[in-house]
Formats: sequence, structure tokens, C-alpha cells
Amino acid sequence: MTDTLSRKTSELERLLVRVALEHAPAALASSLSAEDMVITDLILRHKLGIEIFTLDTQRLHADTLNVIAAIRARYGYEVHVFHPDPESVSEYVASFGRDAFYESQELRKRCCHIRKVEPLNRALQGKEAWITGQRREQAVTRAELKLQENDAARGIVKFNPLADWSEDEVWQYIRAFDVPYNALHDQGYRSIGCAPCTRPTVAGEDVRAGRWWWEIKEARECGLHVAPDGRLMRSTAESEA
Ligand code: ADX
Ligand code: SF4
Repeated sequence: MTDTLSRKTSELERLLVRVALEHAPAALASSLSAEDMVITDLILRHKLGIEIFTLDTQRLHADTLNVIAAIRARYGYEVHVFHPDPESVSEYVASFGRDAFYESQELRKRCCHIRKVEPLNRALQGKEAWITGQRREQAVTRAELKLQENDAARGIVKFNPLADWSEDEVWQYIRAFDVPYNALHDQGYRSIGCAPCTRPTVAGEDVRAGRWWWEIKEARECGLHVAPDGRLMRSTAESEA
């Protein structure tokens, strides 16, 4: 492990300890991909008392869901799983078709709202803070990402502790601590969401080029990290602390 990664790992650990102590109850939103596994490993190895949940959109790859069992086997922890409201899903499918998200950005965002955003709101009820695995390098929409933001819509704090990590550092950590990870990463998937909206990337492509690849890249956010008025969340005074 390089000195930089050791330093970043210590900083990450300190931040998570602070979140656990000062912002309880806090939760990690985990998409079960590499970044979230770095945070999961620290939370569970150090028994920090931060809940870990995932939003099972019911359109995930089997390999993604297999990570839940891998976490159980390694750490003895049961990831909390949130599902979409069945009635909303049925209504969408009946009105527009199961895969209508390919037809327009409006129908894509509506699907993401039903399968991800509304379950996220439920998952965060009663929480003081939530944690994500977002990184600045992942997308133009994330270039200004802060370590700490104000999630004004929910009245809680949002932490992005890997904001300044590179993809390479994430993988160095995973190898160094032998952290379990989604098998799709070994098949060319660098960023993983729902199966019909994710494809592997090829050499030279951006890390998120395989997500909603039919849309322009400035639009490729599912709504989890966007305020209701469409703006990205604002940083707080403590950001970069
Ligand atoms: S996103 O557009 O799908 O949100 P990305 O896959 O890059 O983008 O995920 C960024 C962060 O959002 C993840 O590190 C995780 O914190 C959260 N997230 C994304 N998808 C899920 C999911 N299905 N369940 C829980 N958290 C998620
Ligand atoms: Fe629906 Fe695709 Fe969004 Fe998943 S990523 S919720 S399948 S539009």
C-alpha cells in the first residue's frame, strides 16, 4: 500500500468514526460495488455501528445481489435491503412497459424515482446522516463533490468520504484487505447499476460510460444525489474538514 493510500485510509477511518459518534444514527447507502465495499470493510472491521443498506431495484444483476451473501459470509453482517413499492412498479409497467426507460429521459427518471429514490427516502427515515461511495473523478456531474454536504431536502448530512479517491486507490485497498467484491468488476464493469441500464466499458471510456449510455453524460444521474429542484446538493461550511 502506498503512503498516500495509507494516509487516505486513516482519514477515511477517522471520518467514519466521527460520523458514527457525532451523527448517529448514520447509514451507508451501498450499491454493492467496489467503492461501497471499501467503506463497508472499514465499518464492519472496526464495528462502527453504522447501518449498511442497499436499494434492490429488482433489476439488479445476480452478481450484485451475491455480494450481500459475501458480506454475510465475511463479516457476519446482514445488509438491510429496501425494495420499491410494488404498486408503483406495477403501474409503471402497465402504463409504459417494463423497459420504457430507453424511450425518454423522463421515463428513465420516473423509473429511477420508483425503484431507487422513493426507497432511498424510506431507508433514510430517522437517520441523522448518510454516506455514499461517490468519487469526483467518476463524472462531470461529480467534479465538485464535497466530503460533506447538506442534504437540505431530508434535513440530514451527507458524507462522500471517497470524494478524492482514485479508482486505482479503491482497487489497491480492496486487494490489500482482500475485500469481497462484485464479480462483474472482473468482466469489464467499472460502475454498476441496474442490469438493463449498465454495460461494460471499453478501453479509453469514462468510468461511468456504461451507465445509461444512450443519454448525454451530463444527464447520467439517477436522482439519488440530486435535490428535488434538480440541483446537486450544496456543501456545508464543514466541507473538506
Ligand atoms: S448512481 O447514479 O447509481 O447513484 P453510482 O452507481 O455511481 O451512481 O453510485 C453512487 C453512490 O450512490 C454509491 O456509492 C452508493 O452510495 C449510492 N447508491 C447507488 N446505487 C445504490 C443502490 N442500489 N443502493 C444503495 N445505494 C446506492
Ligand atoms: Fe429503472 Fe434503469 Fe433507473 Fe434501474 S437504472 S431504476 S432500471 S431506469
